Amino acid sequence: MKTNEMLSRGSRRAFLQLSAAATAAAAFRIATEASLAAEDRNVFHPGAVVIDANENPLGPCDAARKAIVDMAPQGGRYSYWLKEELVKTFTEMEGLKPEYLRVFPGSSEPLHFSVLAFTSPARSYVTADPGYEAGMRAAKISGARIAKTPLTKTYSHDIKAMLAAAPDAGLFYVCTPNNPTGTMTPHSGIEQLLAAKPKGSVVLVDEAYLHFSDGVSALDLVKADQDVIVLRTFSKIYGMAGIRCGMAIGRPDLLAKLETFGGWSAMPITAVAAATASLKHEHLVSERKQLNASIRQKTFAWLARQGYSYVPSESNCFMLDAQRPAKEVIDRMAARNVYIGRAWPVWPTHVRITVGTQPEMEAFQEAFQAVMKNSTTTGFAPALPRRRSYPDGQSWPSVSS
Ligand SMILES: Cc1ncc(COP(=O)(O)O)c(C=O)c1O
Repeated sequence: MKTNEMLSRGSRRAFLQLSAAATAAAAFRIATEASLAAEDRNVFHPGAVVIDANENPLGPCDAARKAIVDMAPQGGRYSYWLKEELVKTFTEMEGLKPEYLRVFPGSSEPLHFSVLAFTSPARSYVTADPGYEAGMRAAKISGARIAKTPLTKTYSHDIKAMLAAAPDAGLFYVCTPNNPTGTMTPHSGIEQLLAAKPKGSVVLVDEAYLHFSDGVSALDLVKADQDVIVLRTFSKIYGMAGIRCGMAIGRPDLLAKLETFGGWSAMPITAVAAATASLKHEHLVSERKQLNASIRQKTFAWLARQGYSYVPSESNCFMLDAQRPAKEVIDRMAARNVYIGRAWPVWPTHVRITVGTQPEMEAFQEAFQAVMKNSTTTGFAPALPRRRSYPDGQSWPSVSS
């Protein structure tokens, strides 16, 4: 064989190996709120007001902080049984069997794995628009068709439209309260979806923000052995986004399908200890829910007084209609050291605001008022889709709008 031919065959083989490795690597690129928020964010300046990623400015409760500190000296050991204690605590509280729960470092992983497990080029991914994008990123990887359905007039998931959009559905993603709108989909809607969905499909109910609302959990449907998986996270009301703990709750045969993709690694024992301590804190959820609601209501009252339009939310985030290109408002707010959340292509003049502390919301109001007074509502060209590249040259799969 000539040297050139050998070289080109060698390069072709190397190229194929590389692209197989790239495909495998892409399967593990799990979108999180942090990575989605960071697509538009550079660095924060000192004193920045950061209300762009639905984080909880309060952080972990005192009992969770103590649990982390107390656990730190044992950090040299895996201590698997600590995870079992967390499982026992949660399942006993909720009246579930332990085998119906899997613990992960956050709920982003089980969200990603559920989409990979139940969607494919032949089984579509169905979601609301605007809705949380992470599942769409995973569906791009599984090769599934993405069926996006607008929210109803009252901003809940349009169950009828979701069913109609995909008779070939593999997974219906229902986020309630929804990210970004903070609006609810009633339990009856999820029941309706389960009753009418195509055979073999699964309903993934993301309850990341449920504790902020008066909504009813879908855990009873898990207990009834329905084709449903519920996601919970300690990143929101429990203030542990940087500590990392989340859960998937579902029938053991459904959870087993997620395990094909990952989730078997040991958990950080500090996260497990903090999560267990948070669950055992009797008043944590009610106190934080009340605080979040009161700051949110004060913010809404101010917005209404100023004549701004927003979507009423039951969560720690809401959509605000700036009636001008969202990107322009986000950039102008950042120039005033207030970082607000991203926009969704389907609502190009809305920005997502996270409910922070009262002083943070006051700083937001001041900056927003100044930005709105200094800009006009003239027409605009929609922004071009952004693509992010990784150091290995791959780009993040872009999501069509
Ligand atoms: C709707 C929704 N689901 C899941 C997550 C995942 O969060 P984490 O991986 O921090 O648990 C987020 C994060 O913001 C979210 O907004």
